[in-house]
Amino acid sequence: MTTKIGLFYGSTTCYTEIAAEKIRDAIKACSAGAVQVDLFNIANQPLVSVNAYQCLILGIPTWDYGELEENWENIWPDIADVNWQGKTVALYGLGDQVGYPDWFQDAMGYLWTRVTSLGARCIGQWPNVGYHYTNSQALTEDGKHFFGLALDEDNDFDLSDDRITRWCHQIVDEFCSASRA
Ligand SMILES: Cc1cc2nc3c(=O)[nH]c(=O)nc-3n(C[C@H](O)[C@H](O)[C@H](O)COP(=O)(O)O)c2cc1C
Repeated sequence: MTTKIGLFYGSTTCYTEIAAEKIRDAIKACSAGAVQVDLFNIANQPLVSVNAYQCLILGIPTWDYGELEENWENIWPDIADVNWQGKTVALYGLGDQVGYPDWFQDAMGYLWTRVTSLGARCIGQWPNVGYHYTNSQALTEDGKHFFGLALDEDNDFDLSDDRITRWCHQIVDEFCSASRA
Protein backbone atom coordinates (compact mmCIF):
# COMPACT_ATOMS: atom_id res chain seq x y z
CA MET A 1 0.00 0.00 0.00
CA THR A 2 1.31 3.51 -0.82
CA THR A 3 1.80 5.88 2.11
CA LYS A 4 0.93 9.48 1.29
CA ILE A 5 2.64 12.58 2.64
CA GLY A 6 1.30 16.08 2.02
CA LEU A 7 4.05 18.66 1.43
CA PHE A 8 2.85 22.26 1.81
CA TYR A 9 5.27 25.09 1.07
CA GLY A 10 5.40 28.85 0.61
CA SER A 11 8.02 30.38 -1.67
CA THR A 12 8.65 33.89 -2.94
CA THR A 13 11.61 33.35 -5.27
CA CYS A 14 11.08 29.61 -5.93
CA TYR A 15 13.95 28.08 -3.94
CA THR A 16 11.62 26.46 -1.42
CA GLU A 17 9.49 25.23 -4.31
CA ILE A 18 12.49 23.65 -6.06
CA ALA A 19 13.50 22.01 -2.77
CA ALA A 20 9.94 20.62 -2.46
CA GLU A 21 10.29 18.91 -5.84
CA LYS A 22 13.69 17.49 -4.86
CA ILE A 23 12.29 16.19 -1.55
CA ARG A 24 9.36 14.55 -3.37
CA ASP A 25 11.74 12.81 -5.78
CA ALA A 26 14.20 11.79 -3.05
CA ILE A 27 11.44 10.22 -0.94
CA LYS A 28 10.10 8.34 -3.92
CA ALA A 29 13.60 7.00 -4.63
CA CYS A 30 14.54 6.06 -1.07
CA SER A 31 11.19 4.34 -0.41
CA ALA A 32 11.24 2.51 -3.77
CA GLY A 33 7.95 4.19 -4.58
CA ALA A 34 6.20 3.03 -1.39
CA VAL A 35 5.83 6.62 -0.16
CA GLN A 36 4.18 9.25 -2.35
CA VAL A 37 4.55 12.98 -1.68
CA ASP A 38 1.79 15.33 -2.89
CA LEU A 39 3.00 18.93 -3.36
CA PHE A 40 0.90 22.01 -2.53
CA ASN A 41 1.85 25.67 -2.87
CA ILE A 42 0.04 27.50 -0.04
CA ALA A 43 -0.35 30.53 -2.31
CA ASN A 44 -3.07 28.68 -4.22
CA GLN A 45 -4.14 25.80 -1.97
CA PRO A 46 -6.28 26.36 1.15
CA LEU A 47 -4.33 25.24 4.20
CA VAL A 48 -7.31 23.24 5.45
CA SER A 49 -6.28 20.62 2.84
CA VAL A 50 -3.65 19.63 5.41
CA ASN A 51 -6.50 17.80 7.21
CA ALA A 52 -6.45 15.06 4.54
CA TYR A 53 -2.95 13.89 5.63
CA GLN A 54 -1.58 12.25 8.76
CA CYS A 55 2.03 12.71 7.60
CA LEU A 56 3.14 16.17 6.53
CA ILE A 57 6.17 18.12 5.40
CA LEU A 58 6.06 21.92 5.68
CA GLY A 59 8.53 24.14 3.79
CA ILE A 60 9.18 27.73 4.86
CA PRO A 61 11.88 30.30 3.98
CA THR A 62 12.81 33.19 6.28
CA TRP A 63 12.56 36.71 4.86
CA ASP A 64 13.21 40.31 5.88
CA TYR A 65 15.40 39.89 8.97
CA GLY A 66 13.68 37.06 10.76
CA GLU A 67 10.18 37.38 9.31
CA LEU A 68 7.76 34.92 7.76
CA GLU A 69 7.70 34.52 3.98
CA GLU A 70 4.73 36.49 2.63
CA ASN A 71 2.54 33.52 1.63
CA TRP A 72 2.98 31.95 5.06
CA GLU A 73 2.23 35.31 6.66
CA ASN A 74 -1.02 35.54 4.68
CA ILE A 75 -2.32 32.17 5.87
CA TRP A 76 -0.81 32.25 9.40
CA PRO A 77 -4.23 32.55 11.13
CA ASP A 78 -5.53 29.57 9.08
CA ILE A 79 -3.01 27.28 10.81
CA ALA A 80 -5.36 27.23 13.81
CA ASP A 81 -8.19 25.88 11.61
CA VAL A 82 -6.29 22.64 10.97
CA ASN A 83 -6.66 19.70 13.36
CA TRP A 84 -2.97 19.03 14.15
CA GLN A 85 -3.69 16.42 16.85
CA GLY A 86 -2.22 13.07 15.85
CA LYS A 87 -0.36 14.46 12.85
CA THR A 88 3.35 13.84 12.31
CA VAL A 89 5.13 16.81 10.76
CA ALA A 90 8.63 17.34 9.36
CA LEU A 91 9.81 20.88 8.64
CA TYR A 92 12.39 22.25 6.24
CA GLY A 93 13.53 25.83 5.91
CA LEU A 94 15.41 28.00 3.46
CA GLY A 95 17.72 30.75 4.67
CA ASP A 96 20.96 32.63 4.09
CA GLN A 97 23.49 32.15 6.91
CA VAL A 98 25.99 34.67 5.48
CA GLY A 99 23.63 37.49 4.54
CA TYR A 100 21.38 37.13 7.61
CA PRO A 101 23.50 35.40 10.30
CA ASP A 102 21.46 36.82 13.21
CA TRP A 103 18.15 35.52 11.84
CA PHE A 104 19.15 32.27 10.16
CA GLN A 105 16.09 30.06 9.56
CA ASP A 106 13.99 31.93 12.15
CA ALA A 107 10.70 31.27 10.33
CA MET A 108 11.18 27.51 10.63
CA GLY A 109 11.30 28.07 14.40
CA TYR A 110 8.08 30.11 14.38
CA LEU A 111 6.29 27.41 12.39
CA TRP A 112 7.57 24.65 14.68
CA THR A 113 6.29 26.54 17.73
CA ARG A 114 2.91 27.15 16.10
CA VAL A 115 2.15 23.60 14.97
CA THR A 116 3.53 21.86 18.07
CA SER A 117 1.49 24.16 20.31
CA LEU A 118 -1.59 23.01 18.36
CA GLY A 119 -0.80 19.32 18.91
CA ALA A 120 1.43 18.24 16.00
CA ARG A 121 4.26 15.84 16.68
CA CYS A 122 7.40 17.02 14.88
CA ILE A 123 10.16 14.80 13.54
CA GLY A 124 13.16 15.45 11.29
CA GLN A 125 15.55 17.38 13.53
CA TRP A 126 18.79 18.14 11.73
CA PRO A 127 22.31 18.67 13.20
CA ASN A 128 23.63 22.23 12.96
CA VAL A 129 27.18 21.03 12.31
CA GLY A 130 28.75 22.72 9.29
CA TYR A 131 26.57 25.84 9.35
CA HIS A 132 28.00 29.26 10.21
CA TYR A 133 25.59 31.79 11.71
CA THR A 134 25.24 33.83 14.91
CA ASN A 135 21.62 33.32 15.99
CA SER A 136 18.64 31.23 15.02
CA GLN A 137 15.13 30.79 16.40
CA ALA A 138 15.02 27.35 14.78
CA LEU A 139 17.25 25.52 17.25
CA THR A 140 16.20 22.72 19.59
CA GLU A 141 16.79 23.00 23.33
CA ASP A 142 20.19 21.28 23.15
CA GLY A 143 21.38 24.00 20.73
CA LYS A 144 22.80 21.33 18.46
CA HIS A 145 19.95 20.71 16.05
CA PHE A 146 17.58 22.67 13.88
CA PHE A 147 13.89 21.81 14.19
CA GLY A 148 14.07 20.53 10.63
CA LEU A 149 16.26 20.45 7.55
CA ALA A 150 18.06 23.78 7.06
CA LEU A 151 18.84 24.53 3.42
CA ASP A 152 20.92 27.49 2.25
CA GLU A 153 20.84 27.82 -1.51
CA ASP A 154 22.68 31.16 -1.36
CA ASN A 155 25.86 29.73 0.20
CA ASP A 156 25.63 25.92 0.42
CA PHE A 157 24.06 25.15 -2.94
CA ASP A 158 26.55 22.32 -3.51
CA LEU A 159 25.59 20.64 -0.21
CA SER A 160 21.83 20.74 -0.64
CA ASP A 161 21.25 17.60 -2.71
CA ASP A 162 23.20 15.47 -0.25
CA ARG A 163 21.45 17.07 2.73
CA ILE A 164 18.06 16.42 1.11
CA THR A 165 18.87 12.79 0.36
CA ARG A 166 20.10 12.07 3.90
CA TRP A 167 17.20 13.92 5.53
CA CYS A 168 14.65 12.11 3.38
CA HIS A 169 16.03 8.72 4.47
CA GLN A 170 15.81 9.92 8.07
CA ILE A 171 12.23 11.18 7.90
CA VAL A 172 10.90 8.17 5.99
CA ASP A 173 12.17 6.01 8.89
CA GLU A 174 10.76 8.44 11.45
CA PHE A 175 7.36 8.63 9.71
CA CYS A 176 7.24 4.81 9.68
CA SER A 177 8.13 4.59 13.39
CA ALA A 178 5.52 7.22 14.22
CA SER A 179 2.79 5.36 12.33
CA ARG A 180 3.64 2.14 14.24
CA ALA A 181 3.64 3.88 17.65
C1 LIG B 1 15.40 40.67 1.39
C2 LIG B 1 15.76 39.30 1.92
C3 LIG B 1 15.68 39.04 3.27
C4 LIG B 1 16.07 37.80 3.79
N1 LIG B 1 16.04 37.58 5.14
C5 LIG B 1 16.50 36.41 5.64
C6 LIG B 1 16.56 36.18 7.05
O1 LIG B 1 16.20 37.02 7.86
N2 LIG B 1 17.02 34.98 7.50
C7 LIG B 1 17.44 33.98 6.65
O2 LIG B 1 17.87 32.93 7.11
N3 LIG B 1 17.38 34.18 5.29
C8 LIG B 1 16.93 35.34 4.77
N4 LIG B 1 16.87 35.55 3.42
C9 LIG B 1 17.28 34.45 2.52
C10 LIG B 1 16.09 33.68 1.95
O3 LIG B 1 15.45 32.91 2.94
C11 LIG B 1 16.58 32.74 0.85
O4 LIG B 1 17.01 33.52 -0.26
C12 LIG B 1 15.58 31.70 0.41
O5 LIG B 1 16.21 30.80 -0.46
C13 LIG B 1 14.34 32.30 -0.25
O6 LIG B 1 13.42 31.26 -0.46
P1 LIG B 1 12.26 31.35 -1.55
O7 LIG B 1 12.95 31.55 -2.88
O8 LIG B 1 11.56 30.05 -1.50
O9 LIG B 1 11.38 32.50 -1.21
C14 LIG B 1 16.50 36.77 2.90
C15 LIG B 1 16.55 37.04 1.53
C16 LIG B 1 16.21 38.28 1.04
C17 LIG B 1 16.31 38.54 -0.46
